[in-house]
Amino acid sequence: MSGGLTNFRYVHKGILRELAMLEAKAQALSETDLAEQAASFRRAARFSEAVIKNHAYGEEKVIFPAVREIFRKALPPGINKIPRLTRDVDQAGETFQAFVEADHRFAEALAARLAEGAVRLGQATDPGERALLITTCRQQASAVHAVLALHFQKENNLLLPLAEARLSIEEQDALMRQVEAALPISGDRRADSIKRWWQALGPEEKADYRSNLMRMDRWPGDAYVEGHA
Ligand SMILES: [Fe+2]
Ligand SMILES: [Fe+2]
Repeated sequence: MSGGLTNFRYVHKGILRELAMLEAKAQALSETDLAEQAASFRRAARFSEAVIKNHAYGEEKVIFPAVREIFRKALPPGINKIPRLTRDVDQAGETFQAFVEADHRFAEALAARLAEGAVRLGQATDPGERALLITTCRQQASAVHAVLALHFQKENNLLLPLAEARLSIEEQDALMRQVEAALPISGDRRADSIKRWWQALGPEEKADYRSNLMRMDRWPGDAYVEGHA
């Protein structure tokens, strides 16, 4: 059994699945049926843009400050009275936070340009412009996928283990509740996201994700996530 923070790993997997689908849609864009393809690509690009923004906001507002606090508290008694050492630990936390936040800004900028490119693709009539837009959209979709794949590795392998090892299940759940409260997402959109992430998970991950969400009264129902409701 894991705590609520582990759900970040499942959300990361879900986001990567969406980005892989976005990249596949970009690769499949062609002059034939472009209007229809561009509309579907535009919806996927907008969704990815919103997800990337919200995910980064929740982490920066709640998770990163909490992990910085863990860094500070992890100092053994006595050591935390030495100003130079506490300053070093603070600086290490600050540097890591600056790295991961730079990834967020980069991914957000790429996703925003991609969403704009998708809109222009639906409007362009000149064949030369359309071909150029298709190439740019393909490059940006691949880039945003690659940037976030690396970024999630940093969070999954460095940030989350540190927090998961030091916070109780109740403390982790409380942080996840704070993240949810910080996000401007309605119940329906939240349920829709859970359903999307669910599809990226293996059987054991699904069971863990479900039990974490049930404990936090956030489970939208088996029938809903399986697409039967
Ligand atoms: Fe992040
Ligand atoms: Fe993340």
